[in-house]
Amino acid sequence: MQLKHYLQFKDLSADEYGYLFTRAAFIKHKFKAVEKHQPFADPDRTLAMIFEKASTRTRVSFEAGMYQLGGSVVHLTTGDSQLGRAEPIEDSAKVISRMVDLVMIRTFEQSKIERFAAHSRVPVINGLTNEFHPCQILADLFTLVEYRPAASGQPLDAIRGKVVAWVGDGNNMANTWLQAAELLGFTVHVSTPGGYEVDPALAGISDRACFKVFKDPREACAGADLVTTDVWTSMGYEAENEVRREAFARWCVDEDMMRAARPDALFMHCLPAHRGEEVSAEVIDGPQSVVWDEAENRMHVQKALMEYLLLGRL
Ligand code: CP
Ligand code: NVA
Repeated sequence: MQLKHYLQFKDLSADEYGYLFTRAAFIKHKFKAVEKHQPFADPDRTLAMIFEKASTRTRVSFEAGMYQLGGSVVHLTTGDSQLGRAEPIEDSAKVISRMVDLVMIRTFEQSKIERFAAHSRVPVINGLTNEFHPCQILADLFTLVEYRPAASGQPLDAIRGKVVAWVGDGNNMANTWLQAAELLGFTVHVSTPGGYEVDPALAGISDRACFKVFKDPREACAGADLVTTDVWTSMGYEAENEVRREAFARWCVDEDMMRAARPDALFMHCLPAHRGEEVSAEVIDGPQSVVWDEAENRMHVQKALMEYLLLGRL
């Protein structure tokens, strides 16, 4: 099989996403029915997970998911490996990828994961970088398809033409939403405070029609099928915490913003969340919020992704 990495959302085609959503639904169904699905059992496959930043969902979803597929995991952090003692990323990639079948990395600069992938013998998956978080958007779109399926039954039809409101920081999540919108044919209404805008060049999109910018977050939510946000301060930017708290004060998704969206609009948040900052407790714990299914779906879509990268279409 040709070596395939998942470093950004646009590394896969719309057709491949169509397959992955259908496959993730099948894998989730098996999990719920407590039926075995172990394509990685014989021969046993191993995933190395490298974390240079903290994680709850990404760690648990990849680790539990890999065991469920019949495989094994190795967990590495900066602090407990030679990565933290300046071993070149290229050398680490060459060594680690001789011993395992897949690598998942959560790190800082996107260039770091790209350098790793360039020297890896096995598929590399982005578990979050400063620039992108593709596994999260994969889960978010799968969740949207689950809640609002198309009459045709085709997952991509459920996504095409939708309006997603992004309220908050022009961060790794926002960049990934833009890539998904360009690839799968929907629109993102983006509202960020001044100075925290999305940068289309950094997001790696060429079609500016896939997003619209709004000064007022409530206007961004108007008519949206999905309203979504994220922390004001991402990992790695903690020194800016106080400045950001002031700048983002008006970018809290509250019931007023949800009322501006479509009556059947969903609310999503990649989590962890800060109630009273980027989202009110009423919204995240309210009837339109699907954040717990969204979090669980990380595991199901990543199982489909790992299976696909390693074994192709089954
Ligand atoms: N959403 C997400 O990636 O969560 P963790 O930081 O807990 O992995
Ligand atoms: N934007 C957040 C997402 C956390 C899952 C961060 O990078 O910290």
